Amino acid sequence: MLPAVMLSGKRIVVGIGGGIAAFKAVELVRELGRRGAEVRVVMTPAATRFVGPVTFTGLLGRPPVVDLWDPSYAGEVHVELGDWADAMVVAPATMNVLARLAQGQANDALLATLACARGLRLLAPAMHPSMWGQPATQRNVETLRTDGWHFCGPVDGPLANGASGVGRMAEPSVIADALEAALAAHGGAIGAAQATEDLRGLRVLVTAGPTYEDLDPVRFLGNRSSGKMGFALASRARARGAEVLLVSGPVALTDPAGVTTLRVRSAREMHAAVKSEVAKGVDVVIMAAAVADYRPAEQAAEKIKKAGERALELVRNPDILAELGAERAERATAAAHDTEPRSPTPVLIGFALETTDVERYARGKLVSKRCDLIVANEARDGFAGDTNRAHLVSADGVQSLDTMSKAALADRIWDAALRLRSAAQLPTATGN
Ligand code: C5P
Repeated sequence: MLPAVMLSGKRIVVGIGGGIAAFKAVELVRELGRRGAEVRVVMTPAATRFVGPVTFTGLLGRPPVVDLWDPSYAGEVHVELGDWADAMVVAPATMNVLARLAQGQANDALLATLACARGLRLLAPAMHPSMWGQPATQRNVETLRTDGWHFCGPVDGPLANGASGVGRMAEPSVIADALEAALAAHGGAIGAAQATEDLRGLRVLVTAGPTYEDLDPVRFLGNRSSGKMGFALASRARARGAEVLLVSGPVALTDPAGVTTLRVRSAREMHAAVKSEVAKGVDVVIMAAAVADYRPAEQAAEKIKKAGERALELVRNPDILAELGAERAERATAAAHDTEPRSPTPVLIGFALETTDVERYARGKLVSKRCDLIVANEARDGFAGDTNRAHLVSADGVQSLDTMSKAALADRIWDAALRLRSAAQLPTATGN
């Protein structure tokens, strides 16, 4: 059974290397704190040139550790911190930090503390793409992976100096998700799923959020979906190496780094976006969006005026998941007559948010929508918050999970998607 984990009560040391992305470490410290962690900071001397130590003193009420020779430290501060921490995350891990770690050096407070760390250790590299591309850096990363160090990013995207490429540090929320998922899934040690890019070569599509069905220029029918589950799915897939398309209804969340995000409003817009992306070839579709089943039969061009009682006529929206399921079933039937078998892709995963009888309805949806997996949860567990409790319902049976963060649940869903793909022996849609 998985423990219910956010970061509440977790003790995290944030290590900061000397790169421009150090400014984002401030937000990481805040984010970990918001998620309930107790945070301490260790900086390299070079990091203090990018962000002032006093910033962390202000945020955490204690100064960061920078210099092991500081006489104000009682005892061996690196040993104490290493013992204290449930996890250490280095953000940014610069080319220089990676090189020194790969060599087993302990010549400053950050490296000495990492050497004493007893909890899990996660590196979030950030550097110019040409530095990331150096054979020496790649050799060092390989060595560190082999030695059991774990990585989040870097991602492809714009860099501080205006350039673009692989070398951008993962967003603080993505790093916090990775840490949380690792702690949740593996009870204290980062597991293979987070360490390896096991979704690399896959093109995946995730939908998120509600849809808004307009009544007139100012009113709409919507629902309370926050989009957090779909965004967590997209972030985790990206961190695990997939090419990710996120089709989102109206939500108050920022686009995840490295993910192609398409914003839509209505179910019909979501339908069109999903269909056009699926037509280009995708390996997995996860419909985490709370798509409106109905829309107003008419959309008034002008604001509707008050006048007595009114009844609202609603018409059905397309059921995107059911349509994808039906199309895939048709292709499978056609393929049965072909000499060249066509692959029954994409893997289709739906969500079922219910207020009662969660599992029974989920089994019904698995059949009626002809999908591979339904992630079923009760409305009270899943809406708006940062945690979720779900049952994974497939033809093989039901896997009931404990309450966990949406990032951790996202990892469990991607694990299930990979199992479904390998059970069906599917090739990739892009041929990679
Ligand atoms: O609304 P319902 O419970 O049927 O939703 C189950 C699944 O079907 C969800 O994954 C949802 O995203 C998807 N769905 C859809 N199109 C709709 C309604 C729901 O793709 N019109």
